[in-house]
Amino acid sequence: MNRNFFVITLVTALVVGLCLAAAHAANQGPDRIDIFGGQSGNVPFPHAQHQDRIKECNVCHSVFPQETAAIEKMKEAGMLKPKKVMNLQCIKCHKEDRKMGKPHGPVTCKTCHVK
Ligand code: HEC
Ligand code: HEC
Ligand code: HEC
Repeated sequence: MNRNFFVITLVTALVVGLCLAAAHAANQGPDRIDIFGGQSGNVPFPHAQHQDRIKECNVCHSVFPQETAAIEKMKEAGMLKPKKVMNLQCIKCHKEDRKMGKPHGPVTCKTCHVK
């Protein structure tokens, strides 16, 4: 095989690989997500706004993966209790912020769940 051809092929493969890796790391998910909320109604969630403020993805994603409908799937599989994310993440953080007098997210049922 021609040596130049070999080098070019190798470099191309490397560049394509790096691009794919960058695209993967850059998957921020949608700006807004409609979270399944059972009989109380779904919860419109401003994802991008939280990412801007919180920075550390794992504040939330340590409990569920960065995948579409992850919470609903885990609840269906019995791997996550209903209302656990709601109580231990959403409401907990909003109440802590409220207690400290900072701008905070909603803490009452109907300001999160929309029918
Ligand atoms: C305040 C909590 C919170 C933070 C912080 C957060 N996420 Fe999410 N993310 C969620 C929720 C809730 C969902 C929806 C899960 C579901 O639909 O069951 C989600 C879903 C996603 C999804 C899948 C979206 C889809 O529907 O296809 C991706 C990708 C994602 N997040 C990436 C990130 C990244 C990257 C960061 C950090 C820069 C981040 N998230 C920070 C709460 C958060
Ligand atoms: C900060 C937003 C927020 C508030 C406030 C809130 N919820 Fe939720 N709720 C959610 C989210 C997000 C989910 C889905 C994740 C989970 O099950 O933890 C959920 C899930 C639920 C579920 C389980 C649904 C299912 O079938 O899996 C019930 C029931 C529920 N909420 C009732 C309530 C009631 C009643 C209140 C008021 C006392 C309330 N919620 C307040 C965000 C909220
Ligand atoms: C670690 C802290 C934290 C967590 C966890 C968190 N939030 Fe928030 N949330 C905030 C802050 C801060 C605001 C912005 C308050 C403001 O600027 O008015 C906010 C605002 C909101 C708002 C109002 C957005 C608007 O348009 O004003 C909604 C709805 C909301 N959060 C839902 C949720 C839901 C649902 C979850 C759980 C999946 C969640 N939040 C988890 C900190 C958090």
